Amino acid sequence: MNILSLRMAHQRDCDRIEAFYSSNPDPNVAKRDVSDIIESIDDGRFFVIQSLTERTDTKPIVAASAIFDPEQGPYWQAAEEILGRHSEHDRPHRELGGSLVLPAYRGLGLHKILLAVRLGFLKVNGEIDAGAIVYSTVTQANEVSAKNQMKAGMEAWDCHYAAFLKPCAACAEPRYGNTNCCKVFFKFDTANLDKHTKLLLQGDIQREKRDASKRPTGESFRIVLDLPFLDDPDRDRLLATRG
Ligand SMILES: CC(C)(COP(=O)(O)OP(=O)(O)OC[C@H]1O[C@@H](n2cnc3c(N)ncnc32)[C@H](O)[C@@H]1OP(=O)(O)O)[C@@H](O)C(=O)NCCC(=O)NCCS
Repeated sequence: MNILSLRMAHQRDCDRIEAFYSSNPDPNVAKRDVSDIIESIDDGRFFVIQSLTERTDTKPIVAASAIFDPEQGPYWQAAEEILGRHSEHDRPHRELGGSLVLPAYRGLGLHKILLAVRLGFLKVNGEIDAGAIVYSTVTQANEVSAKNQMKAGMEAWDCHYAAFLKPCAACAEPRYGNTNCCKVFFKFDTANLDKHTKLLLQGDIQREKRDASKRPTGESFRIVLDLPFLDDPDRDRLLATRG
């Protein structure tokens, strides 16, 4: 049995996280400023999955995913001046991003688990109840990710102020919202939250690996959730969307 551990990243992981992204470049993962990664780690919003089965001193990172704060920088302030006041501008915005699963670990549901972890974190932290707009951006050609996002209750979002959330790092000139941009937006419908949080309440997660044609490969994995926010004694109530 292969064992994976899912945990919050620490500052000391920063170099390894940068190396993880730079050694596994993927056109579907927007390059982030190091400052964005550091800020996300500092806020406890950067998650990594390590393989504990490898016989190496440093257990390799096999997947990463984060929550980013898009309201940094001059773009956000400009939105209100240019577009006028809009009730959505007053709500906190949280971007789910930076997801990358190494090819050998794809098909285990890690992306869906990382989605659940990030949504669960925002729920336990009170941010969903505070009306946060939780969104993600997906490269137009990335069918696997778009399908995963929609299965997870994200819906296509025609965000009128998209250009101000942060410039798209992948396109040379156009920003988000420009029709030439490579990204589309998805927004999370919090009515779908229960479906995800259930996964977090069951403890360790067992998975059988399947290949791209959904055939079992015969490898099984245990994913240990090493997440302090799940230790909250009030976690079941906090994670519940209703009642
Ligand atoms: C998109 C990505 C994060 C998905 O990760 P993942 O952990 O394999 O996702 P899941 O296991 O939850 O789901 C994968 C789905 O794709 C299918 N799939 C596609 N290619 C696959 C492959 N090579 N191996 C296994 N499954 C594959 C699976 O059957 C599954 O479909 P299902 O939900 O209908 O069963 C991963 O492919 C990746 O890192 N891609 C490159 C970077 C990227 O696109 N990031 C997302 C940016 S928005």
